[in-house]
Amino acid sequence: MASHYPPGWLDELRSRSDLVQTVSGYVSLKKNGKKYWGLCPFHGEKTASFSVDGEQQLYYCFGCKAGGNVFTFIMDMEHLSFQEAVEMLAERARMPLPQMIHDEDYQRRRTQRERLLAANREAARFYHQTLFTPTGAESLAYLRKRGLSDGVIRKFGLGAAPAEWDKLTKELLGKGFSPEELSLAGLTVIKPEEPATENTPARPRRMFDMFRNRAIFPIIDAYGNVLGFGGRILGKGEPKYLNTSDTPVFNKRKGVFAANLLRKERHLDRVILTEGYMDVISLTQFGVKGVCATLGTALTNEQARLMKRYAPEVWLSYDGDSAGQHAILRGLDILKEEGVPARVLDFPDGLDPDEFIRRDGAEGFAKLKSVTPETYRIRRLMDTLDLSSQEGKVSFARQAIAIIAPLDPVEREGYLKSLSLRTGFSDQVLRQQLAQEVRNQGLAEKSASPAPRAASRAPADPLSAVSVTLAEPDGAAPSKGKSSVPDEAVRARTVAQEQLLSLAATGLLPEDLVEEEDFEGSELKYIFQDLKKGATPASLIDRAPDAESRSRLTRLLMAPVAEGTDSMISMAQDCLASIRSGRLQEKIKEIETRAQNCTDVAERMGYMMELTNLYQKLDKEKQA
Ligand code: GTP
Ligand code: MN
Repeated sequence: MASHYPPGWLDELRSRSDLVQTVSGYVSLKKNGKKYWGLCPFHGEKTASFSVDGEQQLYYCFGCKAGGNVFTFIMDMEHLSFQEAVEMLAERARMPLPQMIHDEDYQRRRTQRERLLAANREAARFYHQTLFTPTGAESLAYLRKRGLSDGVIRKFGLGAAPAEWDKLTKELLGKGFSPEELSLAGLTVIKPEEPATENTPARPRRMFDMFRNRAIFPIIDAYGNVLGFGGRILGKGEPKYLNTSDTPVFNKRKGVFAANLLRKERHLDRVILTEGYMDVISLTQFGVKGVCATLGTALTNEQARLMKRYAPEVWLSYDGDSAGQHAILRGLDILKEEGVPARVLDFPDGLDPDEFIRRDGAEGFAKLKSVTPETYRIRRLMDTLDLSSQEGKVSFARQAIAIIAPLDPVEREGYLKSLSLRTGFSDQVLRQQLAQEVRNQGLAEKSASPAPRAASRAPADPLSAVSVTLAEPDGAAPSKGKSSVPDEAVRARTVAQEQLLSLAATGLLPEDLVEEEDFEGSELKYIFQDLKKGATPASLIDRAPDAESRSRLTRLLMAPVAEGTDSMISMAQDCLASIRSGRLQEKIKEIETRAQNCTDVAERMGYMMELTNLYQKLDKEKQA
């Protein structure tokens, strides 16, 4: 995406959009050491773990690991696409937008996408207008019968699809859309021409509307684009909801219903995720904020990641029936996989959120306490087991302990107490079971000692504490047969290489101090090459394909804490010494093994000479 702006122009815009100043528009920052600190705008927190590096023009949150440059900050803050963020910053910097670099395929896809979105927008307008005409009277009556106010009907742009065969199709053909476009957008169904047979005459190509005689729910993305529609049957019948199938602009696994409203909410402390359009609309009408829904499929990993952008926590609010309960358990797994903190609203009596809030009102809804995933799982466990029998109690205790085992000791405490009450097992027995479960699940009890430092003069920066190994270094993957290399050594070297890269990224190291060969992983090597060619750290961020790699890259490129150039150089020298001597030692080991296993005398001599050579180099490294 970035490549469609001239890179030089983007660099200019980046340099004119100061990150510290931009972030200060949203977050109050305080300078501490070389960086600025504030409360992270991307997750709820009480102590400042959000850091802004004015020199590198990068931000990083040590809490939620959000990281990036001025473009990504605006994208995430304003929920904008890259292009929109660029446009916004260009306007602020009073820089005219450049000619986009010509790329035919990109332009073609772009124009097709724009045409389909325009068709959808026209369709949404048509359906919405129809709702308030005699043709839409039945749909309007249906929506009102379901308790929706005119205000909320307008807020969601609800509509009516006429009962006729092709009213929308004709309308849109009249506006210049082609049959192919309407079919691609999922608005029109085309029946191809049928040749004559013995018994039937030939039939020409026919077209009819996809949605007929249904109440229409437009699916709108965070940027206001109409991506598709859900159409509900007016009363009983099958299918109850007809949804736009996937099109070039719509993928039901990637978005959520009401994303446009979510984006406008600021400072949500949770997103409420439901299963149905009606649930979203109904809760919204009762004043609940930050509600959205999946689009007729089970929660996907993409959607879980998307949620992270809107609030620090997701509350699953599915139907209280057994299908909903299963969907919640599965949804909790997905959210956990994606590292999204979750809670559950457990609706009583098999009700769905819409039915519940209609029955118990906004007060009833507010009183419904959300529960932790563990509490929810334990509740469901209790539904399936007979707790009056000894067998049931044993099974319950066992499974409940398996559920709470991954939690912190403090978090487990409350569960253990109530488990003891419910089963009658003593606290001591439950704790023994827990200890065993922790071992079974391969969970190490968290120790209080800090992680070992890599380089001897590693700075007192949270960076070193959160350091995560990058992609396996290509040359030294411990799994690829080189079992003689201890993981620990490889890891230490990777950490040293990461630190070295961040030092190189400051641009303060002497030209020839660090060499490409000092980096083993191709990722690190590429970054180093780019920096050497003069790319700024902030410009490298635009290439990260997703938030995760962006976070990793930011962490790598943030300036390490050091007092000045001299101390940076000596830190780099430490890193280099440990990298270079580590590699020499590894090489020595390898040659020694080869020499031992070799029967040919001449070959052996060769190894010996190589070894002498390597030992000399190692000595030199150690003296340096
Ligand atoms: P109401 O009965 O109108 O209150 O809807 P609901 O939200 O309670 O519906 P339900 O829980 O049955 O379905 C939840 C979501 O699943 C809907 O919003 C649709 O997206 C989807 N869905 C429901 N029924 C169908 C169907 O028959 N076909 C398809 N493709 N999707 C459906
Ligand atoms: Mn419902």
